Amino acid sequence: MAWNNGINLLLLLLLLALCTLPSLQLQSQERKGDFEKWLSWNVRDHQKKTTLGAEATSSTGRRGARPAADLKGLDTKLKKAELNKVRVRVSQDGTGDYSSIQEALDDIPLKNTRRVILEINPGVYREKILIPRSQPFITFLGDSANPPTITGNDTASGTGRDGKPLKTFQSATVGVNADYFVAINIIFENTAPHDIGSTGEQAVALRISGNKAAFHNCSFYGSQDTLYDHKGLHYFNNCFIQGSVDFIFGYGRSLYENCYLNSISKKVASLTAQKRTNISLSSGFSFKDSVVTGSGLVYLGRAWGDRSRVIFSYTYMDKVVLPQGWSDWGDQKRESSVYYGEYKCSGPGANLTGRVRWARTLTDKEAKPFIGAYYVNGKTWLLSPQEFLGFN
Ligand SMILES: *[C@@H]1O[C@H](CO)[C@@H](O)[C@H](O)[C@H]1NC(C)=O
Ligand SMILES: *[C@@H]1O[C@H](CO)[C@@H](O)[C@H](O)[C@H]1NC(C)=O
Ligand SMILES: *[C@@H]1O[C@H](CO)[C@@H](O)[C@H](O)[C@H]1NC(C)=O
Ligand SMILES: *[C@@H]1O[C@H](CO)[C@@H](O)[C@H](O)[C@H]1NC(C)=O
Repeated sequence: MAWNNGINLLLLLLLLALCTLPSLQLQSQERKGDFEKWLSWNVRDHQKKTTLGAEATSSTGRRGARPAADLKGLDTKLKKAELNKVRVRVSQDGTGDYSSIQEALDDIPLKNTRRVILEINPGVYREKILIPRSQPFITFLGDSANPPTITGNDTASGTGRDGKPLKTFQSATVGVNADYFVAINIIFENTAPHDIGSTGEQAVALRISGNKAAFHNCSFYGSQDTLYDHKGLHYFNNCFIQGSVDFIFGYGRSLYENCYLNSISKKVASLTAQKRTNISLSSGFSFKDSVVTGSGLVYLGRAWGDRSRVIFSYTYMDKVVLPQGWSDWGDQKRESSVYYGEYKCSGPGANLTGRVRWARTLTDKEAKPFIGAYYVNGKTWLLSPQEFLGFN
């Protein structure tokens, strides 16, 4: 262990030294050896963290989860918010506190400091929702037997209130800029159709730009660009995600567990477009214990950024996954800088025979950093729904 820590210290000093070099020099070095260095650093960094923190090795609510009502380790402001929970009911038939989600949100103070749970009754809510940064700690809670649907059909080329095109970012039916957002048993939808070869038809169902957000038992329906995993630490569990082109995209650092990824593209498309643009960004998508299936042929990912990073582990891949597996998006130099890894996957789509040679089959050690809640620093914010709903 002492040996290990010594190495870590050395690496840290090395990194610090590198950071102080002029950026040009950094870039050229980065292109050559740094990538391989990063690989082993990542493994060691993870080992160090797990030795020090003994973090959960699995999803919340199972092995390694926090004991109920134990808020130790949570961010201080989150802990405060959870201990001062408020519940309100949204029902379209007028029997709740509010008849629309927006009305309920309008009543939440700016600079909100309490966990506010919106219990949303079953129904189809045709609302366009934007949760501002100043309203953290909001939860959308639906009924697992009959989850509410929040639906819209805006597209990137649609016109905004200012008369300008919405662009992909503002096409979202639900956009979340706030931190500590949670959704349980909710269907997020964008019904705009996507025609092959058309432009401006990106139509986001949900955009998550806030940090430390969790989605349990949620569904995301769309076509092109369904789920904008924009930025921050995110956790998705038991979710259904459907789309055609790049239907999970952005530069979030996210763990997807037990998710069902359904491709409906009518031509070859990509499931993910992860936008990690340089090695100083910690972003990347990790899919664990999931299923890739559907009707449209897909790459597992295509490189939106030079350092695009996507991992699939313990995932069943149906024959919809192209033998090549991954795409450089027409930029060959990305082949040596992206990080596309597979670990213990199964099914016809996981056959590695036809894979691009720059895809990686991860070793146990290489996979480890990506396949637990620690990947998203879960100990500081992630609660299972049971724990989460249990506090007063
Ligand atoms: C999530 O869905 C499962 C069924 O897939 C259900 O058993 C569970 O109760 C749901 N969780 C919550 C918090 O409603
Ligand atoms: C969106 O839905 C509205 C209302 O149903 C409809 O009038 C409109 O044509 C739809 N737009 C698109 C792009 O599908
Ligand atoms: C990496 O990307 C981020 C986000 O685009 C940017 O802020 C940062 O300056 C970049 N760093 C380098 C070394 O290019
Ligand atoms: C993988 O694909 C190759 C080429 O199509 C085939 O020969 C081989 O039998 C497949 N392996 C498995 C385990 O299905």
